[in-house]
Amino acid sequence: MKRRNFLRILGFGGVVLGAGGGGLIFNSCDSSGGGGGGGGDMGLDPRSPEGFVNRLLVPGDEGLYGLFHPDSPFLIVPKETETEIVPGKPASSFLYEVDAGDRIFYNPIFRLRKGDTVDATLLNELDEETIIHWHGLELDHANDGHPNSAIPHDSSYNYNYEVINRGATYWYHPHPDKLVGKQSYFGLGSFFIVEDENDDALRNALELELGQTEIPLNLQDRNLDSEGQLVFEINPMIQTIGVLGDRILVNKTIKPFLDVDTRIYRFRFLNSSNSRTYKLAFTKGSEKLVFNVIGNDGGLLDKPYEATEAFIGIAERVDILVDFRGHQPGDEIFLKSLEFDPMDPALVDMNFNQPSTLMNGEEFYVLKFNVANEISYNLQVPGTLSEIVPIDITGAGERFITLPNPIEGTWFINNFRFNPGEIPLTVSRDTTEVWTIQNGPLAMPHPIHIHAFQFQILERINSPEQVSELAIDAHGRMPTDMGWKDVVLVWPGESVKYAIRFNLSFPGDQIYLFHCHNLEHEDQGMMINYQVS
Ligand code: C2O
Ligand code: CU
Ligand code: CU
Repeated sequence: MKRRNFLRILGFGGVVLGAGGGGLIFNSCDSSGGGGGGGGDMGLDPRSPEGFVNRLLVPGDEGLYGLFHPDSPFLIVPKETETEIVPGKPASSFLYEVDAGDRIFYNPIFRLRKGDTVDATLLNELDEETIIHWHGLELDHANDGHPNSAIPHDSSYNYNYEVINRGATYWYHPHPDKLVGKQSYFGLGSFFIVEDENDDALRNALELELGQTEIPLNLQDRNLDSEGQLVFEINPMIQTIGVLGDRILVNKTIKPFLDVDTRIYRFRFLNSSNSRTYKLAFTKGSEKLVFNVIGNDGGLLDKPYEATEAFIGIAERVDILVDFRGHQPGDEIFLKSLEFDPMDPALVDMNFNQPSTLMNGEEFYVLKFNVANEISYNLQVPGTLSEIVPIDITGAGERFITLPNPIEGTWFINNFRFNPGEIPLTVSRDTTEVWTIQNGPLAMPHPIHIHAFQFQILERINSPEQVSELAIDAHGRMPTDMGWKDVVLVWPGESVKYAIRFNLSFPGDQIYLFHCHNLEHEDQGMMINYQVS
């Protein structure tokens, strides 16, 4: 069947699910209404290399994305506040506020060592329920931030846990049932960086410093109206595909630039967009620079892998080293998202009522690097980064998960959609399983995530060419597939096999989630509970 016939299978109705949203702009179906759309300010259009004049927000030691080391109990308060996305035009937003006494943080970047403890009280000042999930961390159910733990306005929830994961770029975000897309879109979420001896070694070898030459980069797309306000539109069609925005933000900076010296930088990417995939490349004119993929969801890889392009699906993290030596002061290098086939129905010749004019897979500019200073720097990327012990799969049980083509515009995992009280899948503690995630040929790419465990990708089967051409081994794996993962982007028609070991550190039965991390798919119920017992 041709992709063009896809829409008929979906059976879209014309129903509009709009909802009010306080001072926030929360449109229903009217696509002409206020969307970021093509309107007006070409200076903000990411398709143009012009206008990258806003200094990138680089994490400092307070304020928005400040680096926060939680060494004592603290309050974290999601609230409605303002963020200036378009300079001079504060936008109504949601942010997590942490008052650390002498400093105030918004969406703090947690910075911890493996073995540290977190004693946090979530105090919900939103007008709707919420809960924080610590994405990628191995925690018990009570600390994981399951939607069933969501709390209403003005109540609180206590987290108390030890960080037992290896060093990596984890993150945290809201996880209330059906509200993840909206609350994330309006701003909630940030990094959770765990450091260990492997980071120490890499930083020593390359003289990297977090916040200076090692920079977390949070990628998001948004729609903004002419007043610089965030516009969030939802309707059944957008729910099926996901919310796209035609403005690209890095650390909430629109059209950002960063001055760099002629040395190696480490960039820790997080794609926290609702439904956009990026194909990252560093370009100088038409030339693509070679970079090193050194890490992903679960931390540093065994060694650096050279690449010129890397996909980053929703919720994935990719850790990259870029060497700016060999360039001259005055040179301009762009981080771009290259064109790719989105393999989603959004490009079908039909009005999807997306306010965004920037389709998934379209090429655009993300961040401009201005080579500022020539410095002397003679360090080299180490040949070894960490030890990745392959999961022993002898005797492992096999499990097949299918992501079928959508039925009536709705996505499923096997035959299930989220039901808070239902547990469709149970695994036994201390067992190893091999899961095969098989995506339907007429589906969309789905970034599939599991709570509480990291897995190892064994193989990609029947991948589309744009994926297989990036493969570096006979198993169809890309550099970003190596090491430990908690999300994997599974393309239409593709199967991904991974090994997972359910060696839980907590007693008793634990209920966790397994879901698609396209936030609209997740909110629509492409999510199931699973239990470890
Ligand atoms: Cu980012 Cu259910 O997770
Ligand atoms: Cu998670
Ligand atoms: Cu999905």
